[in-house]
Amino acid sequence: MTFDVSARTVMERCDILGSYSEEPDRLTRPFASQAMRQVNEAVASWMHAAGMTVQQDKVGNLIGRYEASQAGAKTLLLGSHLDTVRDAGKYDGPLGVMIAIACVERLYAQRERLPFAIEALGFADEEGLRYHSAYIGSRAVAGTFDPEALHLTDSDGITMAEAIHTFGGDPDPRALQTARWHRDELLAYCEVHIEQGPVLEASNLPVAVVSAIAGQNRITIRFRGEAGHAGTVPMSLRHDALCAGAEFVLAVETGARGFPGLVATVGQVSVQPGASNVIPGQVTLSLDVRHQDDTVREQANRQLEERAREIGAARHVSADWQMLQGHCAVPCAPHLAELLSQAIEEIGYPTLSLSSGAGHDAATMSELTDIAMLFVRCRGGISHNPAESVTVEDVEVAIQVLERFLLLLSKE
Ligand code: HGY
Ligand code: MN
Ligand code: MN
Repeated sequence: MTFDVSARTVMERCDILGSYSEEPDRLTRPFASQAMRQVNEAVASWMHAAGMTVQQDKVGNLIGRYEASQAGAKTLLLGSHLDTVRDAGKYDGPLGVMIAIACVERLYAQRERLPFAIEALGFADEEGLRYHSAYIGSRAVAGTFDPEALHLTDSDGITMAEAIHTFGGDPDPRALQTARWHRDELLAYCEVHIEQGPVLEASNLPVAVVSAIAGQNRITIRFRGEAGHAGTVPMSLRHDALCAGAEFVLAVETGARGFPGLVATVGQVSVQPGASNVIPGQVTLSLDVRHQDDTVREQANRQLEERAREIGAARHVSADWQMLQGHCAVPCAPHLAELLSQAIEEIGYPTLSLSSGAGHDAATMSELTDIAMLFVRCRGGISHNPAESVTVEDVEVAIQVLERFLLLLSKE
């Protein structure tokens, strides 16, 4: 296979973006951080080099635009997110933005032939690392951002509104409204993303079409007991919140296994007051629940909430269940999936269709416009881990498929 320079450029750019972090020894890039500022500057320069006009919207999304040759033409949105989880890999999110830029760069000479404008979006937050409220960027674009979220505070007590302001945005809800698109102005949203699972590798294929994105919830559970002296309160008289939390973590594992296809994860535990000689008085846990079938996910949520209350009651600690956010399972648009399949076949590969267990900006964008997604093979299916890895060969295939998809779309 011969490479256009841009597949290698995409790899180099992902390396560069991977060096912008809030932590010295690992990649951690939260919403509206200094590292995000550096990333937006770098990506803006690459968008300019691709011939796009560039702006940062009021919430901090980076937007590169190719104007359409005809007035009144609709806009095709491409993109993914530029924030990361803690101790992240360098491809989850940024790869999709870099491939979008590489693709439109290749199409630059032909852009007059395209009957639509193209925007490449680098979303400011998808992972929800800083405020535990994911999709800040795509919600603003989709018009589903809840201004109540502006009052959320990060671990340093900085509100989301302050963070947006410091980042150069404008947290006034009316200003944030300017980031939103309207359905009739858009053709579709298409996102390229690493698979984050092992199926492509097992199938010996570089890319796959996504059929749907699983529904998911993020929940906070707080057990409140009574802090006390570790040396003086007998075991039988304690109200240890951490023991309730620990029992709940295992109940989540057991409960999830009772629903085929369900995945449920406690990924964060905070213990208060958090001293070796103090009985824990309060424990806060995060819970992430996902399934392709919304009915099953909702049933599992009810059962897990019930278990949290039973565990609390048996230990005489209170159990507070707070649903932070969620979305239903989201289908990708069949006609766009069909065009992506055609593009893959024209490039010379068989089509594989996969559903996504991971959440994506496309799930939020589906409330605004038709969505399509292309998965790229990643080594071992590993993600949310610095070991994330993709090959330049697969990136080349993904760019070619996206380019072909755009040309097919232009003939519709
Ligand atoms: O959590 C998710 O599924 C995504 O990676 N943000
Ligand atoms: Mn992710
Ligand atoms: Mn992602």
